[in-house]
Formats: sequence, structure tokens, C-alpha cells
Amino acid sequence: MTQSVLVAGGAGYIGSHVCKVLAQSGYTPVTLDNLCTGRRDFVRFGPLVEASVSDTAVVASTVKKYDIKAVIDLAGSIEVAESVKNPLKYYDNNFAVKIPFLKTLSECGVKAVVFSSTAAVYGEPVVVPIPESHQLIPKNPYGSSKLAYEQLLRDFHLAGGPAWMALRYFNAAGASFDGDIGECHEPESHLIPLACFANLGKNDALSIFGNDYPTQDGTAIRDYIHVLDLASAHVLAVEALLKGAAPTAYNLGNGIGTSIGEIMACFERIGFPVPHTFKPRRAGDPIRLVADSSAAKTNLGWTPKYADIETIIRSAHQWHTKTLAAEKNVKVG
Ligand SMILES: NC(=O)c1ccc[n+]([C@@H]2O[C@H](COP(=O)([O-])OP(=O)(O)OC[C@H]3O[C@@H](n4cnc5c(N)ncnc54)[C@H](O)[C@@H]3O)[C@@H](O)[C@H]2O)c1
Repeated sequence: MTQSVLVAGGAGYIGSHVCKVLAQSGYTPVTLDNLCTGRRDFVRFGPLVEASVSDTAVVASTVKKYDIKAVIDLAGSIEVAESVKNPLKYYDNNFAVKIPFLKTLSECGVKAVVFSSTAAVYGEPVVVPIPESHQLIPKNPYGSSKLAYEQLLRDFHLAGGPAWMALRYFNAAGASFDGDIGECHEPESHLIPLACFANLGKNDALSIFGNDYPTQDGTAIRDYIHVLDLASAHVLAVEALLKGAAPTAYNLGNGIGTSIGEIMACFERIGFPVPHTFKPRRAGDPIRLVADSSAAKTNLGWTPKYADIETIIRSAHQWHTKTLAAEKNVKVG
């Protein structure tokens, strides 16, 4: 019998890719998801338990039924701007609901929890590439709620709770190469899907916030990491923890800073020009966010395979082209 891993948030964008790579690696991913933003049709690689992480009775019965020893927790709310308007939602869904969840996992004998954290825990970087030892001063409730959960995992482990790893993602992007799952947020706020929408005519021109930053072309710089590379790190993190690795936080990025201008140029070069307009900078957007992921590479043996931005963009564009065509067929039909 294959080992089962519980994936909270497994019906979401990154969670479904984690489930895919778990299944390819010989595990059974058991998705626990309340489908508040996730999609039922993304759960293709193992069973779905439709419930919130706060439903402790369901969590306990699921852990027992599938003999779960390791949990990957991607469940949460992800919109930075929404978190500023509605911080209570973020402290609730990214932190408060996780207290009974974690307690139940521990009581049921779960040994390891791998958690989706974010570069937003750092706030404005003072050193780039950003190492894990960088100061942690989040600039919005989203980042603060994620950092609070990291600290809870650390403190609870010291008091006998499960071992943990917090994986701090930089900009997740791209889609499965066979086109079965991809990025799907409602509303969408991430650059590469919005660029695809503008190219495919789903949206009007893409708004680019700021072209007067002190960068080579005036636009902000981010570290884009293919979602399948993120996913493979989760499998390595689970395996490391179950073998007794020390709990810690790891950055997951390529260490390559790409400006928005370079993203636009790449879309153009591969035949997908993106109509765009420039708007003033948004408050709180850092100029440059690039990861130092050397610790994950050294300690987990993680090697990103799809670092090339063109590969990331092509996979995203393929997914959105297919999805848009399917949506049009439904509307026509
Ligand atoms: N997308 C990025 O670039 C990025 C960057 C850094 C960190 N992250 C983190 O990665 C995780 C996944 O992000 P995503 O982009 O796949 O988002 P997503 O919205 O597609 O996935 C989140 C999933 O969690 C589920 N969920 C939310 N609250 C839940 C609850 N209380 N109980 C059970 N299920 C619940 C949703 O239904 C959804 O399936 C999030 O925790 C996010 O903060 C994402």
C-alpha cells in the first residue's frame, strides 16, 4: 500500500500541483479542502475530503482512515490587497483555524507538517538575494498571518508537536506541461496569468504598476518559480522531516530576478504580445524580491528544473489558452 500524505488546500493552484508530484513520486495525496477558492476538478491524483481544516472531527477521522504521518498545509487566503482591507479574515483563515488543526494532527500522531509560507514574511528587503536569516518585518496582514503560523509551528514543536518546515515561496507561476491543471485565482492578481488574459483578449490592457523604479527598465523585479519546481520541494521536505531533518524555514525561488519589462519582452518574443499600460507605483510593493534558495538546494537536495522564464510563460499560456477555449465552448453551447 502506498503511503498517504494529507494535502490541505490540495484543490488549489499550487496544492493540485503538489498532489500531482506526490502521486508521481509514489504517494497517495489525500486532499482536505473546503473549496472556498479551490476547484473540484483539480483533485485528480487522490481522494478529496471536502471540509475546512477547522473541522477537527473530519481531520481526525481522515488522519486515522488514511494512516497519515505527514501533512502539507497549503490551505489559506492569499490576496495581499484583501488582507489590508479585511485583516480579520486573514488572521482567522491563515492562523486561528490552524490552532485546532495542528492540535488535532498532533493528537492523531502526525509527525511532520510542511507549510506554505511566503516571501511576504520578509517585508522590504534590506539584502538581495534574501536569505532565510533576513529580518522578518511583514508589511501587510497576509505576511503577518503567515509568519504567525510559522512561529506557532516552531513553538508547538518545541512543546512536543509535529516537526515542521515552512517553505517561503517567491512568485509561483506556470502550469502543468500536460495542461491538466494550472493557475486559477478569482479574482486573479498575479502578473503572468493577467498577461496571458491580456494577450488572449480575456482582459483589456495589462496594468503595470510603476515604471520609475531604480531598475534597468524602471519596472519591479521578482523571482518567478515554476509551480512544479515548488511542488517537488514539498515532496523532499516531507521525506526529510520523516527521516528526522531539523525543522526550519526554506526559501523557494530561482535566484533570478526578472523585471516586468523583461516578462513583457519574453511574451512578445515568443509570439504572445501583451497590450499594457503603466500606472503609478502601488504602496507597499518592494522594488526587488529575489530569493537566496541555497539552503533548500543544499539541505533538501532540491534542484529546480524549469527556471527559464520562457518555459514558465509558455506553460502558463498553454493552460490559459486551453481554459479560455473551454469557457467559450460552454458559453456557445
Ligand atoms: N500563489 C503564489 O504565488 C503564492 C506565493 C506564496 C505563498 N503562497 C501560498 O501558497 C498556498 C496556496 O496558494 P495558491 O496560489 O495555490 O492559492 P489557492 O487559493 O489556489 O489555494 C488555496 C486552497 O486552500 C483552500 N482553503 C482555503 N482555506 C481553507 C480552509 N480553511 N480549509 C480547507 N481548505 C481551505 C482553498 O479552497 C484552495 O483550494 C497559500 O497558502 C498561499 O498563501 C502562494
